[in-house]
Amino acid sequence: PIDTTGLYAHAHFPMGASINTNLLRNNAVYTALVAKEFNSVTPENVMKMDATEPTQGNFNFGEADYLVSFAQQHGMRVHGHALVWYQALPGWVTSFNGDSTAWENMLKTHIQTEVAHFKGKVVSWDVVNEAIDEDGTLRNNIWLQHLGPDYVARSFQYARQADPDVLLFYNDYGHEYSAVKRAAILSLVTGMKNRGIPIDGIGMQMHTNTTVPDNAIAAAITAVANTGLKVHISELDIAVNPGNDQNMTFTPAIATAQSQKYQNLVKAYNALPAAQQFGITTWDVGDADSWIPPFYHRPDWPLPFDASYKRKDAWQGIVNGLK
Ligand code: G3I
Repeated sequence: PIDTTGLYAHAHFPMGASINTNLLRNNAVYTALVAKEFNSVTPENVMKMDATEPTQGNFNFGEADYLVSFAQQHGMRVHGHALVWYQALPGWVTSFNGDSTAWENMLKTHIQTEVAHFKGKVVSWDVVNEAIDEDGTLRNNIWLQHLGPDYVARSFQYARQADPDVLLFYNDYGHEYSAVKRAAILSLVTGMKNRGIPIDGIGMQMHTNTTVPDNAIAAAITAVANTGLKVHISELDIAVNPGNDQNMTFTPAIATAQSQKYQNLVKAYNALPAAQQFGITTWDVGDADSWIPPFYHRPDWPLPFDASYKRKDAWQGIVNGLK
């Protein structure tokens, strides 16, 4: 039987998805589904630096504003993503010529202009995204090179100055498969917290797959929650073809395994203290929209909705995990 209420109606914390504004503008089936199933949205791309500051000092918030007004019309929360990242940079940043003061001012202006624009409209930000490398060191990116290791903490301070009320998150991936990376993330975050740097939560992206053991996922969620900060499952998808099989098809057995993985993950999150449950956000909505097939050059079906935006078994798995 088709349930007539959306995913969010089954949860006592927000349920969201990353939103592609091209689809939101042009695909009525997608738009209706988003409004029905979710009460939180994250822009997939349109709040990133290449979208919002395409040339220095010229800010463009048009696409992001469109998403914000859609969310407001439908009573949905907006989570901002992402102020400081080493990808999705406009060309002028990668070729920026300036001393460390010029770099610092450029970063601060970007953060504070964007946070000020969305003040009162987004409840939270991924302030810094993916600053830790796989080996647990600070990722050697353009920000580290020009600003030094404390650019992470200063980014949070700049964001806080621009909006005293918005919740500030550090967002990254890999907590569930790399103990080394997780320890480094938790050390960075607790270090900032102990120094009085404003930080409210941790985003666990959770780009995972059906071969990652349930107990590893549950242990990661518990370890992150032990910081006492809010926990956002911020970019959830569960790939079924991590082996890159070019001939794979999505069989009923695979659908069941994926559904079970979604269920157990949601169940582990559901057990956290309510005050730490910021919510669960899937990264995209339907399988055909996922970043995974084009990125890894393989077929995959990672999401709770199929290419026609019909609920998959994974949808029911999430609902079961919320009970
Ligand atoms: O919009 C341009 C288009 O004009 C151009 O013709 C085309 C040619 O490449 O590119 C289009 O931009 C693409 C953009 O998505 C919008 O579709 C970029 O190439 C492409 O790199 C970009 O990919 C996004 C990626 O982040 C990089 O920003 C994915 O959609 C998005 O799902 C992905 O999301 C990230 C999170 O932000 C952080 N965590 C990992 C996650 C997956 O990689």
